Amino acid sequence: MKAILEPEKPQQAGSKDVFAVARRAAVGLIIAYVAVILFIMLPAIQTYTIYAHHIDVWGFKKFEHPEHYGLAPGKTVNMKLTSSDNTTIGAWFIFSDPFYRTLPHPHLHTHATSSKHIPEAVGTTPTILFLHGNTGTRAHKLRTVLYSSLTARLGANILAIDYRGFGDSSGHPSVQGVGRDARAGFDYLVQQGAKPQDILIVGHSLGTAVAGLLASELGRENVHFRGVVLMSPFSSIRTLLDQYYLLGCLPLWSLKHGFDTLSLVPDIKSDVLIAHAEDDWDIPHTHSSALFNAFLDPSEPFAAPNTSVSTTHISGYGSFSQARVANRNVALLKTERGGHDLGKVEGVQDTIGRLFGLYSAQR
Ligand SMILES: *[C@@H]1O[C@H](CO)[C@@H](O)[C@H](O)[C@H]1NC(C)=O
Ligand SMILES: *[C@@H]1O[C@H](CO)[C@@H](O)[C@H](O)[C@H]1NC(C)=O
Repeated sequence: MKAILEPEKPQQAGSKDVFAVARRAAVGLIIAYVAVILFIMLPAIQTYTIYAHHIDVWGFKKFEHPEHYGLAPGKTVNMKLTSSDNTTIGAWFIFSDPFYRTLPHPHLHTHATSSKHIPEAVGTTPTILFLHGNTGTRAHKLRTVLYSSLTARLGANILAIDYRGFGDSSGHPSVQGVGRDARAGFDYLVQQGAKPQDILIVGHSLGTAVAGLLASELGRENVHFRGVVLMSPFSSIRTLLDQYYLLGCLPLWSLKHGFDTLSLVPDIKSDVLIAHAEDDWDIPHTHSSALFNAFLDPSEPFAAPNTSVSTTHISGYGSFSQARVANRNVALLKTERGGHDLGKVEGVQDTIGRLFGLYSAQR
């Protein structure tokens, strides 16, 4: 008996330990979960998680020298713009390659000599108002390579702005605030002499929500601009957060930054291109399908569209769907590959160039 009982003692003690540990772990998990929920509900934390505006992996902010990021000398003008509520935002104006090639070489530029060419540039080639996603600034490496390829391949100038709270811009981000900043960028281009029809609004990721705000505002004012490109967009931030398990359990009334592009669709009256990669791990491409359907029929975004949509499948690349709705083009490009930073895909750039008539302007 002793021989049997004796080993039972440590076994019992062992299983007690296991239960105690399990109980402690469970309590710990619950506390951690509640802590995370409370943490995320804090408005300041929401601001940081959604915009991630202070995450700048490159650390140094040499906005005065875009040449340090590989852009040609004097091709970029660093500037400050003022939003309608007097917030100061940082921006880069990057000359299109066709225009830049008309400047003397080597281009011994100063801020004054380069900026004086802006009115001529916006009168000569179309301009992209680029609205970047969250995290980092206009000088982020993924963005500077995009400026190089878009100014070359599409022959368009780019105005890249940093929203309030990002980079060298002042203030703190908010939905209304970043919308004002985008408008400040648009108005600056018009002040420099750009025709609204020569301005293409391009948003990426979080920037698509900002593009939606600007495009709908201009739509309500009957301003006819070239069009809007939504790259790797989300339909609304609630839908996006719903798709993450932990965040899906969030009390959603606590959401401070309620970007909701889907609800703005009826006010966006320009040509629209929505582009998304099926291997985007940040924002599922189903968001783009929802947006496309909303553009086809804003009154019934979830019904089968009452519009004839022509779709072309390209083996190994993706599919391109196009429809004519209310006298404008609405298009959806889904690529098989490309990830979240879809703008680098040549096929996507080509679709932008062709759909918005940028290639015809280059000849
Ligand atoms: C912005 O600044 C201008 C000039 O300093 C001033 O007239 C205007 O009232 C200010 N606007 C706001 C919204 O603060
Ligand atoms: C589509 O909608 C229009 C009116 O908006 C209607 O006249 C037409 O019959 C509808 N077509 C189909 C196929 O449902």
